[in-house]
Amino acid sequence: MTDPTLVRTILIHEADGVLELRFNRPEKKNAILGAMYDTLTAALRDAAARPAIRAVLIGAEGDAFTAGNDIKDFLAMAGGLQDAPPAGFINAIAAFGKPLVAAVQGAAVGVGTTLLLHCDLVYASPAATFSVPFVDLGLVPEAGSSLLLPQRMGQARAAALLLLGEAMDASAALAAGLVTAVVPAEDLHAHALAKARKLAAKPAAALAATRALMRGDLAALHARMRQEEAAFSQALASADAREAFAAFLERRPPRFG
Ligand code: COA
Repeated sequence: MTDPTLVRTILIHEADGVLELRFNRPEKKNAILGAMYDTLTAALRDAAARPAIRAVLIGAEGDAFTAGNDIKDFLAMAGGLQDAPPAGFINAIAAFGKPLVAAVQGAAVGVGTTLLLHCDLVYASPAATFSVPFVDLGLVPEAGSSLLLPQRMGQARAAALLLLGEAMDASAALAAGLVTAVVPAEDLHAHALAKARKLAAKPAAALAATRALMRGDLAALHARMRQEEAAFSQALASADAREAFAAFLERRPPRFG
């Protein structure tokens, strides 16, 4: 039987060939728990296997897209990222072979931004922000973002995101090529859904082949993801990361050694 908690924190809806996955933990800014990653991973695997699903739309309830990994969950993950739920999701989304569309209506932090690097079309409301503050948490980038962000926007802008941990607003993200279009908040969902439906109505084989050609040789991405996974696992257990997580949970500034 499906765990009702999971049904609540990730909303899943299917219509007209489009599978919609929506973060639904708005009281925690959609911070992602292990069980939520597992639900997303299973939904992507299922969508990959079923011909009736021709596109996937990722969105969110509330005022944040997602605040990224739940920080309390990070504390419980000292054993490393390998085989942990976030790694399962990251690998599933990177390997997904059908069109992925995202609708970002608020803060997209950490994996909330890095997952977008694996989406084909990203629509954002004017209030959307994008940040990858891994260093501030004593961590390193994941989901291939150490490779994909500099490729996408150049080293200079990627350094402001990845080293300084600064957030990018919607118009900067549009200029940097992280976002396809900025859409008024009230139109965002309908707009992204219409684009997902448009993709779902196209010949699936030609679409998949074009998408694969656009992504090119993925060997470097896969190699970088393995390197990131090892570095992330090491960082998770570090004193700096533990201090950063404790500081967030205690709502105080961190004191790094
Ligand atoms: N993990 C666990 N809980 C989180 C969370 C996260 N990543 N992000 C937010 N929350 C919780 C807060 O602890 C708070 O819980 P509480 O009401 O029980 O105290 C609630 O969500 C609301 O968050 P708050 O910080 O009060 O909202 P805000 O609007 O002021 O700020 C963010 C929103 C997203 C900018 C801010 O919450 C944030 O920076 N979160 C951490 C992001 C992060 O570092 N993620 C990891 C990336 S690798």
